[in-house]
Amino acid sequence: MTLMKGTMLYEGKAKKIFETVDPDRVIQYFKDDATAFNAQKKGTIVEKGIVNNKVSERLFRLLEEGGVPTHFVERLNDREMLTKKVRIVPIEVVVRNIIAGSLAKRLGLKEGEAIAPPIVEFYYKNDALGDPLITEEHIRLLNLADPGMVGQIKDLALKINRLLTPFFQERTMILVDFKLEFGRHKGSLILADEISPDTCRFWDQKTKESMDKDRFRKDLGKIEEAYQEVLKRVCG
Ligand code: TMP
Ligand code: ASP
Repeated sequence: MTLMKGTMLYEGKAKKIFETVDPDRVIQYFKDDATAFNAQKKGTIVEKGIVNNKVSERLFRLLEEGGVPTHFVERLNDREMLTKKVRIVPIEVVVRNIIAGSLAKRLGLKEGEAIAPPIVEFYYKNDALGDPLITEEHIRLLNLADPGMVGQIKDLALKINRLLTPFFQERTMILVDFKLEFGRHKGSLILADEISPDTCRFWDQKTKESMDKDRFRKDLGKIEEAYQEVLKRVCG
């Protein structure tokens, strides 16, 4: 199927979204641009867009097979994915299996300890405010989603974690934590955005080395190599 890329609807930090002739379909274009700390740090990760597109495709397929509805339709080429057009719920949903990142910092906890059962956190998707951590009451106050939808989001996030954790384990990776975004589509809630080394923490099972965007955030070097290794383990 040939799909003419129409007008750009939105440009984010790592992706661009284009209209298509079908009002219910958009094209997600994955860029190599990388940002951290609310875009205070900027850079390029060579071929990141290709890795994130292919890794997201594999994971969306896995989740669909496991009964999680997603916006994924098909991968069009190296950097483009056709998706359903959704209205994004402005909540970043983080699932954590191991203490790391902002959780360790905020609560003064040691990185690397297991969290059992896993926890779900909500952040308000708002660049001007720096994506603050919010509670379910704040979600109600801001009218971001009704309580029923918040329950649905939490259940889906934990189901996604149950599907992804063994998948990565089999590929000798530890899924430390990850961020999800959901969208409204024809009256239902579906998983949207991407699932990639930009939006997950992966540690190598043996060495516990970071294989994700933390290498960029913390200037750990071998960033491209890590992204290619994730691609190899996930899609190879
Ligand atoms: P955090 O520990 O910095 O809160 O990050 C938790 C997870 O969310 C981690 O896997 C990285 C991901 N994440 C994003 O996808 N986008 C973001 O803007 C941030 C801050 C984190
Ligand atoms: N995407 C984020 C930003 O630049 C940061 C991150 O992923 O750490 O705002």
